[in-house]
Amino acid sequence: MHLLSISDIDVPKALALAAKAKAKPQAFSHTLDGKTLAAIFEKPSTRTKLSFHVAINQLGGHFADLAGAHILNGHEDAHDTANAIAQYADFLLARVNSHEQLAELAAHSPIPIINGLSDAEHPCQALADLLTISELKGTSDGINGTKVAFVGDGNNVCNSLLIGAGLLGLDITLASPPGFGPKGAMISKAAACAQASGASISYTTSPKLAIKDADVVYTDVWVSMGEKENTAVKAAAFEGFSITSELMALAKANAIFMHCLPAQKGVEVSKEVIEGPQSVVFEQAANRLHAQKAVLLMLAGQTGEVNSS
Ligand code: CP
Ligand code: NVA
Repeated sequence: MHLLSISDIDVPKALALAAKAKAKPQAFSHTLDGKTLAAIFEKPSTRTKLSFHVAINQLGGHFADLAGAHILNGHEDAHDTANAIAQYADFLLARVNSHEQLAELAAHSPIPIINGLSDAEHPCQALADLLTISELKGTSDGINGTKVAFVGDGNNVCNSLLIGAGLLGLDITLASPPGFGPKGAMISKAAACAQASGASISYTTSPKLAIKDADVVYTDVWVSMGEKENTAVKAAAFEGFSITSELMALAKANAIFMHCLPAQKGVEVSKEVIEGPQSVVFEQAANRLHAQKAVLLMLAGQTGEVNSS
């Protein structure tokens, strides 16, 4: 089993396991004894790399950072890279420019490949975000019906959230400028997930419409790492999409503000909002650790069995 898309994992089970690992970290401290998580990052990272590093250590295993992006760029073919890494490691975490490259690696890999962010999805981030939403907005009925507004670019984070929201039955509205929404294939995938769960997914070009009465307001950078799109062109297209206190005031009074980070303060969100009382960006960052433990445990087939020693 690989985790390339958030739809590759049983999301409710992963969230339950993450919550258990958060509540009782000691109970999981030997669950992955002797296991090695190798990592290849083609782009910078703070949260993804460190949360996985600490997660595997706290589960009893080791982190091996291969560092060199060259590994995926002509060093050898994907077949040989994947099979060689599998001789030493039990999982491979990869942050790549192209999702196709990840899929090719997965097609040849005897060990689980974990998407640490591609141009198409950021499933590990979305799992942590759904954990955060369930902690802060969940009721005894779960989080279905929670109203989420994603305001911004139809990017990797947006795609994983849409699909995750579809799987969990959230009510999500995406506001993007014309031409900057998710690709058709992602919309179809999220819609198919939503059909089974009863989630509501809608699209608008009006940030105000999306945010009105929302429980959660989420944004991300307008220009993602490695994106070729011109920053000035995008800034012009996204005029009016910056999350300010005025826009936040349209959401419910107890709404939370979310951002995966890193953020461009004063661009997609004002400093006042992201550093203000409604912001839960560090709760999200903290939950990366627990969500990443759940990912490792599920990929290792350790679904919730706690360590007794
Ligand atoms: N949110 C996130 O993935 O952060 P990093 O780029 O720092 O890993
Ligand atoms: N959309 C952003 C997310 C960073 C975690 C990017 O790809 O740069």
